[in-house]
Amino acid sequence: MTQSRRNAGSKLALVALSLISPLALLASGAAGAKTPVKASTATSPIPHLVQTDGKYALIVDGAPFLVLGGQANNSSNYPGALSKVWPAIKDMHANTLTMPVSWEQVEPVEGKFDFSFVDTLVKEARENKVRLVILWFGTWKNTGPSYTPSWVKLDNKRFPRLTNKDGTTSYALSPLYDTTREADKRAYVELVKHIKAIDGDRHTVIMLQPENEVGVYRTARDYSPKADALMAQPVPQALLTRYKKSPGNWNQVFGKDADEYFHAWSIARYVDDIVAAGDAVYPLPTYVNAALKDPLNPDQTPGSYASGGPVYSVMDVWKVAAPHIEILAPDLYSPGSQSYEATLSQYARADNPLYVAESGNKPIYARYLFSVLGRQGVGFDPFGFDYTGYANYPLGAKVFDADAVKPFATLYKLFGGMDREWAKLSYESQVWGVSEPDDHSAQSLDLGKAWSAKVTYRQWQFGLPEWDPENKNGYPDGSDVPSGGVAVAKLSDNEFLVTGLNARITFDTGEANKARGFVLDRVEQGHFEAGKWVMEYVWNGDQTDYGLNFTGAPVVLKVRLGTYEK
Ligand code: DGJ
Repeated sequence: MTQSRRNAGSKLALVALSLISPLALLASGAAGAKTPVKASTATSPIPHLVQTDGKYALIVDGAPFLVLGGQANNSSNYPGALSKVWPAIKDMHANTLTMPVSWEQVEPVEGKFDFSFVDTLVKEARENKVRLVILWFGTWKNTGPSYTPSWVKLDNKRFPRLTNKDGTTSYALSPLYDTTREADKRAYVELVKHIKAIDGDRHTVIMLQPENEVGVYRTARDYSPKADALMAQPVPQALLTRYKKSPGNWNQVFGKDADEYFHAWSIARYVDDIVAAGDAVYPLPTYVNAALKDPLNPDQTPGSYASGGPVYSVMDVWKVAAPHIEILAPDLYSPGSQSYEATLSQYARADNPLYVAESGNKPIYARYLFSVLGRQGVGFDPFGFDYTGYANYPLGAKVFDADAVKPFATLYKLFGGMDREWAKLSYESQVWGVSEPDDHSAQSLDLGKAWSAKVTYRQWQFGLPEWDPENKNGYPDGSDVPSGGVAVAKLSDNEFLVTGLNARITFDTGEANKARGFVLDRVEQGHFEAGKWVMEYVWNGDQTDYGLNFTGAPVVLKVRLGTYEK
């Protein structure tokens, strides 16, 4: 499968890929060449993102880190709920918990801050040996002001809501008022200060998400007289440059897209200003999450999705308007493989690390971790992982209990045993990953000039499906529901780390050695200990004659490929 990337034309400087072999790097534990995304963190030990040649790594405690996360339910952000959160995170084998901290919670009275929940959360995260991503529920939560304190949400003179096209007042707060932005910023900066004070030397908190699903429904933008006056102003030069447009006002420059672009610009500038102020205190990596537009329907009308949010068609507006925000991250609740894969491709860009901020918690979503990793993703963070009794069906599982966690737990166990190694290979070498499509069709991996691979699903461990006399469909029981995937990382020219679930991978020669015969030279099953590969046993005979077959059990292989003269 070809996974396209845009050319690296970002604000970031590029550095050459390390020439040292990835396997040697794994063994030495050396960190590769890095360009910090936030310039101010160049020598800082705090968590930060680095990029090289359009590839990214989240550096935590000096080395690449893969977020295998679980997001708690919205109302689990009080000490009384935490005892129902940790068991789910443990069962899941997550290395990170994502938890909201809300404006109403920390500043119920204007100017008086209470971070006692943050203290408890950080303390208990350390006891449970997981990292934290903190979500700032401020001006916008799923576009609305529900998490603002009463003194904000009830005072629309000081904190105005935006005006719909028909002149009625929207439910959402307008991004055009300094009063609102400054009040939100003050609270956010106090939160960042507090995190720095209690965690600056420990890095339990590794990322922040300012706001949550920004944008507005039922209208494309604020249509107040203030907004109309701004729309009549010249479009900022940086945006003209990005879009290669001639000067003019918003309607002149962007035509039918003007309303949405203007609203995206206004929100992105607002959030960026808040993040910049937080960065000045403690520059943790930040991302904004997107309530998505249909990835397969570019003509969908803004307002039928969250207009102004970082949907794929306005990512460039966001990139220009919000230079302090490193990641625009999708919230994925469409289970179809065509739509899910399309969204991943839209967000995995040379100027945007792929981070799945949310995903449904039904079992069918778990396999997509392989697709995320294949696109060099830095993390996966499905939503609704706690045992508070909430189940967000139909977007998520019907019942959320220990059984619902299992498909995610299997995957996290698999990658959790090598999360640091994978993150390092992903950044410094090459990785591939595919998940089972809804139609179970086979996929090809282009492993470069020398090698190729094919991934198939619904296979038995031995032989071919059509050999089975007992089952008229020829497929293993339960395999009608897609659950498979494969991930591959390059260790050296002829050596690959290979893992998967419910899938078969077969290797072959690539274009460069097409004239030669193919040999599976050696296949070791093993695991990593302190960054070093530990071989458990060698696969051969029936275990390799029909391709390398992964079942539902977590297995990692080191595979060496060879050729012979024909
Ligand atoms: C997306 C939001 O970002 C989450 O906070 C939560 O409301 C989920 N939707 C529920 O599916």
